[in-house]
Amino acid sequence: MREAGPLPMTFGRGGSLRGRARVPGDKSISHRALMLGAMALGTSRIEGLSEGGDVRSTAAALATMGAGIGREADGTVWVRGVGTGGLLQPERPLDMGNSGTSARLLMGLAASHDLTAILHGDASLSSRPMARVAEPLRRLGADIVAAPGTRLPIALRGLAPAAALTHRLDVPSAQVKSALLLAGLNIPGVTRLIETVPTRDHSERMLALFGADIRRDGPEIAIRGEAELRPQQLRVPGDPSAAAFLAVAALVVPGSELLIENVCVNPLRAGLFEVLRAMGGDIAFLDTREECGEPVADLRVRHSALTALDVPPEVAPSMIDEYPILFVAAAFAAGTTRTSGLAELRVKESDRLAAMAAGLCAIGVPVEESADGLAVRGSGGEPVPGGGRIDPRLDHRIAMSFAVAGLHAAEPVGIADMTPASTSWPGFADAVEALRR
Ligand code: S3P
Repeated sequence: MREAGPLPMTFGRGGSLRGRARVPGDKSISHRALMLGAMALGTSRIEGLSEGGDVRSTAAALATMGAGIGREADGTVWVRGVGTGGLLQPERPLDMGNSGTSARLLMGLAASHDLTAILHGDASLSSRPMARVAEPLRRLGADIVAAPGTRLPIALRGLAPAAALTHRLDVPSAQVKSALLLAGLNIPGVTRLIETVPTRDHSERMLALFGADIRRDGPEIAIRGEAELRPQQLRVPGDPSAAAFLAVAALVVPGSELLIENVCVNPLRAGLFEVLRAMGGDIAFLDTREECGEPVADLRVRHSALTALDVPPEVAPSMIDEYPILFVAAAFAAGTTRTSGLAELRVKESDRLAAMAAGLCAIGVPVEESADGLAVRGSGGEPVPGGGRIDPRLDHRIAMSFAVAGLHAAEPVGIADMTPASTSWPGFADAVEALRR
């Protein structure tokens, strides 16, 4: 939500980054914790929930549909669930803000309830495709009227009982998968999904924690509906997509060494760290443990000489949100890093290939844009020229990526508006500043 107008900021050189760092609670897991808490009968308690705008959109929408949600003085969030099938008719439109995850997952939840919901969002979200979720939801019985191109605003009339279906996921999308699993919670019988390209599995892990009958057999995921979910006590691990900005900052700013604590290292999210290691990045996972049904570790990251890489397209699902910051890492590597198979990046919070190509060009980094990737020629560890003024295009990850580029640029990098960062990381700039030595 952008109440106060744009916040221009400048990021420049100023010493190395050293010490211990914490990142916000994982955004994906936070959305799911709220939604499953809302579907359980009783009160769940969640520590470490993301305080970003996206997760707030989910919380506000669930509250409008009857869940009780509050925050205690120590930051713990409680959710009083309505039980499966218990969502109420919302009395006002649901504002999804900038959040595709809120919009798509809540469409799934609402589709198997007897209610009518109107969903709308900001200019970025209103330009993103919703057919990938609307089409299967129509097949299970929901009636969906959308703006041209199947975009928000959307009016969705759910159906209870809806019809169980078998659906093949043709776009590799955790959001579509999760929308259908959430719909399936309140559908009699078994809803089956065929997922040939694995995507983040936070929904499956958390549904199991809450006691749903969910099974995976090869590419098939099956969930039995009319589930009774038990309330949980959860500790949300830190967001690897946020840790990615600090990790790249530490790799490229000379003299840096960070310990980024308590980061989710689910292999379906950790692709960037593997790619950075293959580029020569000194990144260690320390004290790997389990939290919230997810593998978690402390990340030790030291300044490293990076070498360019041809990034295989198969890793994309495990680092889909990390390409903007990977392109920044590539800008400091020796040689040309090439990526492909990334057409999906054009329909994220912004067209991330176009936004990154324009921004890299503006700060003097040689870049070539193709239909489905970028080739970025790196500086071999020297500062990039910098200067320029980046338009983040309402996209938090574009804003934070260029902020990191500025930390090792000959001239400071201007970001026309840093407010989008708060959709996932309110206080990002202060967190970076606090690590400078
Ligand atoms: C998300 C899934 C990904 C990701 C998004 C969060 C999720 O989107 O880009 O930021 O929480 O399920 P897709 O499912 O569209 O790839």
